[in-house]
Amino acid sequence: MGDLKRIGVLTSGGDAPGMNAAVRAVVRTGIYYGYSMLGVHKGYEGLLHGDIEEMNLRSVGDIIQRGGTVLQTARSAEFATEAGVAKAMNIAAIYEMDALVVIGGDGSYRGARDLAKHGMKVIGMPGTIDNDISCTEYTIGYDTAMNTVLDAIDKIRDTSYSHERCSVLEVMGRKAGWIAVNCGIAGGAEAVVLPENAFDIDQDIIKPIIDGRNRGKKHYLVIVAEGVGGAVDIAKYIEEKTDIVTRATILGHIQRGGSPTLLDRVMASRMGSYAVEVLRAGRENRIVAVQGGKIVDIEITEALNMKKSMDQDLVELSRILAL
Ligand code: F6P
Repeated sequence: MGDLKRIGVLTSGGDAPGMNAAVRAVVRTGIYYGYSMLGVHKGYEGLLHGDIEEMNLRSVGDIIQRGGTVLQTARSAEFATEAGVAKAMNIAAIYEMDALVVIGGDGSYRGARDLAKHGMKVIGMPGTIDNDISCTEYTIGYDTAMNTVLDAIDKIRDTSYSHERCSVLEVMGRKAGWIAVNCGIAGGAEAVVLPENAFDIDQDIIKPIIDGRNRGKKHYLVIVAEGVGGAVDIAKYIEEKTDIVTRATILGHIQRGGSPTLLDRVMASRMGSYAVEVLRAGRENRIVAVQGGKIVDIEITEALNMKKSMDQDLVELSRILAL
């Protein structure tokens, strides 16, 4: 076991379904290998205030199926300061915490990197519904969120067809259109609008709707990522230009909740366990990621410097299949 005895785990940033499965995997794998495990509540804010509890096998019982995070999460302004990081290190020392597993996004990894500079062994794990973490192909919560959106699309499509209407659906993704593009393909959207790509409302939205109507379509779906926004205005514009009754739906935080899918539970379990294996192998300051379909770990600064761009083949596929 070397000099590693006590491992803490926290969830940070926006919650995501599957975070509980990840916490469970970290805690159970840690206990399996003989480490003592600490749960830090409310992210870095809880670390600053000593909101920390010893975790046992039962602490993580009956949570694998639950959305949200039992550890809760928060955004901490104090932790973003040099003094805040130093204070957090003092609290960690009081609890004899040698290592910390941080489940969250790029912003949370920056906090982890700052702790690492002060000597904490840190491991990051990707948890966000947006799939916008540069170093990884997959993030915990992404699959569940997309299935929630798809369920909404199918329901909206029922009523949209009945009334021969157009629906504009705004989905989450402040900076990333991964949910939008995949749900556009899976839900059969006429148009998908993403923060990564410039768009021309007449060419990219109105034209496919009119073309579709001329080919006999009975309803129309436009998906707008939150980062682009303006779903209500886009709906008004469509109605003005086409005379098709158009309704906007903003799905909002419903996408962040709910019971995690099988994929999210399994990926969270695998990555959580892997995080402990990385520490056990003596590696530290790494981010657990999926690359080429395999679970790997990447040095934290290298991971933070990586760039991820939208898969334009997916965007093109959504256009072709909208015909
Ligand atoms: O978790 C990611 C995300 O859902 C973004 O898509 C969204 O912009 C953001 O969180 C909203 O988070 P909050 O309402 O917690 O500020």
